[in-house]
Amino acid sequence: MSRDFSQRSNEQEIMDGGIGSFELFDESLKQIEAVNRLTLGYRPVLSWVDRQLPFPKPRPVTILDVGCGRGDLLRRIWSLARKKNVTVRLTGVDIDSWSAPAARQATPEYMGIDYRIGNVFDMDIEADFIVCSHVTHHMKNDELVAFIRWLGAHARRGWFISDLHRHPISFLLAKMFLFLMPVNRMIRNDGPVSVARAFTAEDWRETLKQAGVPAQIHWHFPFRYGVARCE
Ligand SMILES: C[S@@+](CC[C@H](N)C(=O)[O-])C[C@H]1O[C@@H](n2cnc3c(N)ncnc32)[C@H](O)[C@@H]1O
Repeated sequence: MSRDFSQRSNEQEIMDGGIGSFELFDESLKQIEAVNRLTLGYRPVLSWVDRQLPFPKPRPVTILDVGCGRGDLLRRIWSLARKKNVTVRLTGVDIDSWSAPAARQATPEYMGIDYRIGNVFDMDIEADFIVCSHVTHHMKNDELVAFIRWLGAHARRGWFISDLHRHPISFLLAKMFLFLMPVNRMIRNDGPVSVARAFTAEDWRETLKQAGVPAQIHWHFPFRYGVARCE
């Protein structure tokens, strides 16, 4: 059956139904990290953060990662800041109650990253910069509009969203790539479903219009969009 890529898919990811055990969650997030690294998945966020640092303030720069999973992106931001000699205070938030324990287990204590469990919409937490990678495709359109407004209210200096580009070619590439990668059934299923749930540039323009928030939209190789706003 051919798929319609003109609209976001409503198909549920297995991940959103809950992952059966801590071990499976940890294993699956490790596999997502490997996929992200191989597909340059963190590059849009890291190059944006790189451009924001150093940030001329006498105190540490605070950065929040929404939907931080196992914390891989935060560890990379920590390394980037260290290379640039910038002191950062990093926080990760994730709705899944297994995320924080898995992220703490994977993160050396000296990085001092604070991991919290919670739905971002219920959290009153501020940071200089807020980033979010591969999370927004889990949200419905009205939640996404609310999220853009939430970011505006909680990021003091700027925010950056990175997520997949919905396109028949990226769907096919995800299917082929995950067929070849040593990943579990959930990741193999959820990868292409994530692409089908993701966005085109037009979707982002419409979402930003509905939220009443101007922001920049850039395409990143391979098949991702970055949406950025600096105050
Ligand atoms: C596909 S994973 C992405 C993990 C990581 N950021 C990455 O780039 O690979 C999506 C994560 O977003 C989290 N998430 C989804 N909705 C959320 C919400 N409303 N508040 C906080 N976390 C959320 C999920 O629990 C999941 O860990």
